[in-house]
Amino acid sequence: MESSLPLILDRAAGLPLHLQLAEQFRAAIRDGRLQAGHRLPSTRDLAKDLSVSRSVAQAAYDQLHAEGWIEGRPGAGTFVTDVVPLQPAVRRSPAPRPDPTADLLTLRPGIPYIGPTPDPGWRRAWREVSAQSPPRGYDDAAGLPVLREALAEHVGRVRGIACGPENLLITNGTVHGLRLLLAVAMQPGERIAIEDPGYLNAVVAARDHWLEIVDVPVDEDGLRVGALTDDVPAAYVTPSHQYPLGGRLPVARRNELIRWARRTGAMLIEDDYDSEFRYDVAPLPALAQLDLDRVVHLGTLSKTLSPSLRLGWLVASDTMIDRLATFRAESGDWPGWPMQAALLAMLRDGYLDQAVRRGRRLYADRRIHTCSVLAPYGQVIGQDAGLHITLLLPEYVDDRQVTADALAAGVVIAPLSEYRRSTPGPPGLVIGYATPSTEDLHTALGLLTEVLDRHSPLRGSTEATPAQRK
Ligand SMILES: Cc1ncc(COP(=O)(O)O)c(C=O)c1O
Repeated sequence: MESSLPLILDRAAGLPLHLQLAEQFRAAIRDGRLQAGHRLPSTRDLAKDLSVSRSVAQAAYDQLHAEGWIEGRPGAGTFVTDVVPLQPAVRRSPAPRPDPTADLLTLRPGIPYIGPTPDPGWRRAWREVSAQSPPRGYDDAAGLPVLREALAEHVGRVRGIACGPENLLITNGTVHGLRLLLAVAMQPGERIAIEDPGYLNAVVAARDHWLEIVDVPVDEDGLRVGALTDDVPAAYVTPSHQYPLGGRLPVARRNELIRWARRTGAMLIEDDYDSEFRYDVAPLPALAQLDLDRVVHLGTLSKTLSPSLRLGWLVASDTMIDRLATFRAESGDWPGWPMQAALLAMLRDGYLDQAVRRGRRLYADRRIHTCSVLAPYGQVIGQDAGLHITLLLPEYVDDRQVTADALAAGVVIAPLSEYRRSTPGPPGLVIGYATPSTEDLHTALGLLTEVLDRHSPLRGSTEATPAQRK
């Protein structure tokens, strides 16, 4: 066994080697890097590891033994004793604080249902990964070529985007892809149009890259394309299910958006985060299907499998993929081989398709239930797709207060006002119905309606309260 401590011996120093060694062990025990019960390497291994004679290692251990720092256990080896450190361990982090929302029912949007036991398809993929040795060197910075091939087939089949592996880059999810793209394709100080209300992480990413954000209003169909001006070199959009209002951008507006990008030379960033889920409505073409030269398309596993996988993909022109991959090769920032290999197995075995089919069935009923429970309190919108709906509330309701009261009642929701920037609009709640079990969803909605009852004396009305009308 090698020593896991970085032990450094200085032959030029006046101090004998065994004393240098003993002091480094002492320091490591004192500051908590070596803990009680930790097994130390044998004197033979230690000596070999440090290229010193065994007598040096032995003398260091004898010294530590005499001082009570370590003890020998016959037949087992040498261990750190349970000594009281002379000073508090400085490196140890405090015990993790319990997550205050862990016991709450969450209706925050964005997280799929994940059952208590892993599926056979999931287990099969990881078994397959664990049976392989890792690759010998660095992988392709754009992603494993076989995986990009399989994903090109996948996005062609499910999103209608005609592309090959040269158009694909594997990411750690949408936000990772977006940040990479902004770093490579945009200059600080440039302007970017973002939907308002819109996805907060996209706004933060743009700010972090010193971009100037242009707020573009949204209606029940999604981005108001007519509000885009010609001096904006990029626009971030969620056409399949506008986040958070839930509109599905109609074909005519998609065409208008593409025409705008072609005319102005702008780059369109299509965040396709939950397009796998739609209910009783026909699919709409991805923007990337209409023009891969102008559109960069971001896909993710966060809504279909789990956000904790941190996996997604970016589809773009081959020249854009080359630029992104070159940047990544220099930064070393791409998903690890085991994750990519597991995704490959899941795609090949049909596990991803199966998870999407199952999700659609499960969420379809929950969506209907959620809409019917909440309809009396305002206007439910965005219910045709995705994993969340938005409840528009009467003007007099304070959505942040409703959110705070719901939290006190044990339910986590998101206020619509959290997503608004400069474009005014009614208050509301963004309600995800995918995360809890069906039973918990029913309980959570029951608790939420009790809170809403207290805030909505005129249930179902979008008028002002009598007090406000005065
Ligand atoms: C609009 C939008 N885009 C993307 C994502 C997913 O991001 P990621 O793939 O980085 O997990 C979410 C998740 O909530 C989202 O709401």
